[in-house]
Amino acid sequence: MTETTISSVLKEDRMFPPPEAFQSNAHIKSMAQYDKLWNLAKDQPEVFWGEQAKDLLDWHTPFSKVMEWNDPFVKWFSDGELNASYNCLDRHLETRGNKPAIIWEGEPGDSRIISYRELYEEVCRFANGLKKLGVQKGDVATIYMPMIPELTIAVLACARLGVTHSVIFGGFSAEAIADRNNDASAKIVITADGGYRRGKVIPLKDQVDASIEHSPTVEHVLVCRRTRQDITMDPIRDHWLHELTSDVSSDCPPEFVNSEHPLFILYTSGSTGKPKGIKHTTGGYLLGATLSSRFIFDLKEDDIYWCTADVGWITGHSYIVYGPLANGTTSVMYEGAPNHPDFGRFWSIVERYDVSIFYTAPTAIRAFIKAGDELPKKHDLSSLRLLGTVGEPINPEAWMWYHEVIGQKRCPIVDTWWQTETGSIMIAPLPGVTPTLPGSATKPFFGVVPEIVDKKGQPVPDGHGGYLVLSQPWPSMLRTIHGDDDRFKETYWSQVPGKYFTGDGARQDENGYYWILGRIDDVLNVSGHRLSTMEIESALVSHPAVAEAAVVGMPHDLKGEGIFCFVTLEGAGSKLSSDELKSQLTSHVASHIGAIAKPDEIRFTDALPKTRSGKIMRRLLRDIAAGRETSGDTTTLEDHGVLDSLRQ
Ligand code: WTA
Repeated sequence: MTETTISSVLKEDRMFPPPEAFQSNAHIKSMAQYDKLWNLAKDQPEVFWGEQAKDLLDWHTPFSKVMEWNDPFVKWFSDGELNASYNCLDRHLETRGNKPAIIWEGEPGDSRIISYRELYEEVCRFANGLKKLGVQKGDVATIYMPMIPELTIAVLACARLGVTHSVIFGGFSAEAIADRNNDASAKIVITADGGYRRGKVIPLKDQVDASIEHSPTVEHVLVCRRTRQDITMDPIRDHWLHELTSDVSSDCPPEFVNSEHPLFILYTSGSTGKPKGIKHTTGGYLLGATLSSRFIFDLKEDDIYWCTADVGWITGHSYIVYGPLANGTTSVMYEGAPNHPDFGRFWSIVERYDVSIFYTAPTAIRAFIKAGDELPKKHDLSSLRLLGTVGEPINPEAWMWYHEVIGQKRCPIVDTWWQTETGSIMIAPLPGVTPTLPGSATKPFFGVVPEIVDKKGQPVPDGHGGYLVLSQPWPSMLRTIHGDDDRFKETYWSQVPGKYFTGDGARQDENGYYWILGRIDDVLNVSGHRLSTMEIESALVSHPAVAEAAVVGMPHDLKGEGIFCFVTLEGAGSKLSSDELKSQLTSHVASHIGAIAKPDEIRFTDALPKTRSGKIMRRLLRDIAAGRETSGDTTTLEDHGVLDSLRQ
């Protein structure tokens, strides 16, 4: 973005007030109630958050301090002690012991229903297994697993012992696992033999094996049996979960930790190549996840709640594991792809388990639209009462389809804007209160004070786009980038001093509603997953045939943003045909980063458009990738001929 403000053309005036029946039963019923709480959280954050923390969480040692702000480092409830797994399990045993905590369905069709008591016991056994391996408070465990109950169990077992978890999405490559193991100094990797995706077995253990050679800190690999294909087990380093836990007790006292003890690290892409280990701590994070789940999903005792994300992303951490379980909710978990065996799979799950709250991503919604209305219409979706979306801006037409075909005009939609860094939802409607407009995330949640500013940090006039910043600390905010406080300050706190810089553009309309305009840095949002253009470029350049690469986003019907790569080749070029080279480069990127980063289009060129000082002019490349006329100032371009040849 070179202009000081972002121009925005979207105009939307279809407004949907919450249905009366929903409103009268909701936790928060009126705009006046919302305003009162929002103002309290803004003007007296310590009062608001102190009360909520006492109300919603169980503390082993009560806190006396609520917040300490030492720009830009924050601590919440810093003299309190608690345990996150205790809050998700133990405290429910008396009243909800037999209630399903997890309803799980595997891709092949197998299923399990796990009660709170059973989940408690499994977590305790897992934790006792970890103890046998000498894993303890302060260690870091990498978790690289399919979407099976043992993933949630592993996460909670770590939390139980004060072990910091670092979950890596199962689509990442061995190299990506090794990078993250090293950055976090992981002591153990918890994985499975494999997982099912689109009818195939994903060989997770093989990827872990390939990563271990380059992961000197890892002492143990713990393997859960899922797919039963042949894998190699190292007799010293590797352990089967079922053998390790065959003789352990199903009780394991929780390790109560300081509120600021690191609960997890989660790696995400930034605008430079190296992934950032976003660090979240215990008390504040858990409070943010718990409170937002309760009010934004309006959770009730008999809800069957389903978030379709993967636990490998922040959405799965906050809204499959911690938020719903801390609230004692029944949470559905599905292992596989939405189109296995066909695009009716999600609707069949909704029907069979009576799902009442359904939370998914715009990229999935667009795929469903394309697959046609017949599939959802074949299923009884009348159990649904609330829908949600997350991950990228939802285009109004997709919103309307979701509203009409899935929600059958009966269900409010909560479009939730947030980030790995924010830990919990920041901007979203309250479903019993906020009239929704297709495409708008509407209003800030409690404790969230957004502002829209220009490059100099000055507020932009109403209706204009600008940079979205958050001007007040909140409990679930990231504490730092693991091992790199300087990068933390530089990335989030240097653009507008004293305010958290989101990296997103936004505008506010005349109703005060927020409209997220997407990323403004060099980060792509592909199917709701953040990928750094720089990271893909360095993967390309590491191929011997490539001299230079520039990667930009392009509009993509299903993925939202697709990956467009401009590549210049080494002097003599390659002996391969251009199609062969393209497919080689595609697998090269997949093996360096993972299948999620596979290029959608590769274009070979003799040169890239650069300024006289040698900077690649990405703005021009974005125009070309989108098939648009190049617009804006090109006077700084060094060689105008380059543009003509690129367009061909
Ligand atoms: C984008 C996912 C518009 C945004 C929870 C943000 C959204 C990035 C929305 C964070 C939404 C997420 N509307 N854009 N409702 N939700 N985004 O860290 O660009 O994987 O900065 O967290 O996704 O992605 P992340």
